[in-house]
Amino acid sequence: MEKMIEIKDVSKLYKAGKEMTKALDHVSLDVKKGEIIVILGPSGSGKTTLLNVTSGLDNITSGKILYEGNNIAKYSDHKKTSFRKKNLGFIFQTYNLLEHLNVYENVLVGSSLGKNNDNVTDIINTVGLEKHKHKYMHELSGGEQQRVSIARALAKRPKVMFCDEPTGALDEKTGKIVLETLIKINEEYQTTMVIVTHNPGIALIGDRIIKMNSGQIIEEIVNEKRTKPQDIPWG
Ligand SMILES: Nc1ncnc2c1ncn2[C@@H]1O[C@H](COP(=O)(O)OP(=O)(O)OP(=O)(O)O)[C@@H](O)[C@H]1O
Ligand SMILES: [Mg+2]
Repeated sequence: MEKMIEIKDVSKLYKAGKEMTKALDHVSLDVKKGEIIVILGPSGSGKTTLLNVTSGLDNITSGKILYEGNNIAKYSDHKKTSFRKKNLGFIFQTYNLLEHLNVYENVLVGSSLGKNNDNVTDIINTVGLEKHKHKYMHELSGGEQQRVSIARALAKRPKVMFCDEPTGALDEKTGKIVLETLIKINEEYQTTMVIVTHNPGIALIGDRIIKMNSGQIIEEIVNEKRTKPQDIPWG
C-alpha cells in the first residue's frame, strides 16, 4: 500500500514557565493509504499531542511530517490551515457542533469548508441519520450527535480522518454504532483513519495498533483481521 503520512523522528516539547514537558520523544510512524491506525496509551502518554502535530494543528519541535512526500511542518501557518481544511477531517470526544443549526445545516458547514460537491443528503444517509435531518443538536442522543460530527468531517471527503476519543462520551451500544459508521466510511471511501482511544477493545477494529508511553511508541501490533465493532469487548 502507498504511504499517506510519514512521521519522521518527531519530538515535541511544551514549555510552561520553567517547566518543560517532552510530550513526544523521537516518534516515527508511517501511515498507509486506507489504513486504520489505533493509538492506545495511558493518560499523558502523548496520544493527543501526536494527533495534533500530525494533523498540523500544533507545531513540532523537531522532525518531519510528510503527506504524500510533502513536509507540512515547514508550511506557514496559513498554508497549514488551508492544507488541513482541504484534506483532513477531525472528530473529537465532544462533538463541537453548532447548536443553532440542524443536522443538515451542520453537515453543510463541513462541505463548504472543503471542495467536495457531494450531496449533503447522501452523506447524512451514509451515517444513518436520514430520519433526523431536520433536528437540532439538543434533540439528538450523544451517538447521533457524534455521527453528525462524522458526517460534517466527511462532507469534504478528507484524505485522513483524525479521531480523538470518538466514543469517549458514549455508552457501549452507541459507541459501537459510531465505530461502525467510521468503518463503513473507511470501506466506502478508503479514508485513512487515525483513532486515539483509552479503550483497548477498540484497537481490534483497525489494521495496526500503536501503543504509547511517556511520549514514545513502545509497541506496534499488526492486526491481521479487523474485528467488527459489534464483536469487540468494551472497556
Ligand atoms: N499545551 C500544553 N502545554 C504544556 N504541556 C502540555 C500541553 N499539552 C499537553 N501537555 C503535556 O504533554 C503530555 C502529553 O499530553 P497529551 O495530551 O498528548 O496526552 P494524552 O495521551 O492525550 O492523554 P489523555 O489520555 O489524558 O488525553 C502530558 O504530560 C501533558 O501534560
Ligand atoms: Mg488526549
